[in-house]
Amino acid sequence: MKKSVSLLPVRAVDHLGPAYVVLKVSLPQEMEPSAIRPGQFVEILVKDSPATFLRRPISVNFVDADRRELWLLVHVVGDGTRALSLLKAGDALDCVLPLGNGFTLPEAGAPTCRYLLAGGGVGTAPLLYLGKILTEMGHGVTFLLGGRTATDVLQLDDFRRYGEVCVTTNDGSLGERGFVTQHSVLDGAAFDAVATCGPKPMMVAVARLAAERGWPCEASLENLMACGLGACLCCVEKTADGHNVCVCKEGPVFDIKRLSWLS
Ligand code: FES
Repeated sequence: MKKSVSLLPVRAVDHLGPAYVVLKVSLPQEMEPSAIRPGQFVEILVKDSPATFLRRPISVNFVDADRRELWLLVHVVGDGTRALSLLKAGDALDCVLPLGNGFTLPEAGAPTCRYLLAGGGVGTAPLLYLGKILTEMGHGVTFLLGGRTATDVLQLDDFRRYGEVCVTTNDGSLGERGFVTQHSVLDGAAFDAVATCGPKPMMVAVARLAAERGWPCEASLENLMACGLGACLCCVEKTADGHNVCVCKEGPVFDIKRLSWLS
């Protein structure tokens, strides 16, 4: 799919508590909704933020094909994301999309599989769209969503539309206390494949658990990006064979066996 640089009309900005917003924008006119794969991302030009001169990578949270609407979940942590959170319906968002490789999807008509989609905080964002697509293809989905506290566990009603939802929080304020890899749903569980996104320590723990259990696993990396072109090398990740990969050019999704996390 050819990437497009578009000014996308903002339809709504949903505030999920003080620290997160979902930007809902119209898809580019010429773009089929199916052209956007779960796990891909968008680069946004942030206006009205002198501190932010590079585009911001934001993962695709959801694509509503009927409404031709794209959702982007933003964690408000600095000037750039604060400027995004202040957008209003009717504003326009300068976006480059779709970018990155996305998660591997099963072939159409493949035998029914059980997927574990494990994420933490804002890293749960791409798992919503992935869960929707897998469910529509007839596969079973268990979402395992973690956060430091209840306010970091987002979009629960949306996730529940597409599968079983299990929650952990570090302080026990929602779901089971602890990390996602400690949730009781994993006791004696059997999954056919795992996808994960979130803080790196969480993804490494999920990847190691998946490897121990023999479950194939892909991770969507959230390494810092600057140029987005493979030039600045600020997004590199070490691979199992001792080399580096640019997450912006070759990712953001990788089979965990390719990364150095299991050694
Ligand atoms: Fe510059 Fe990836 S962001 S090389």
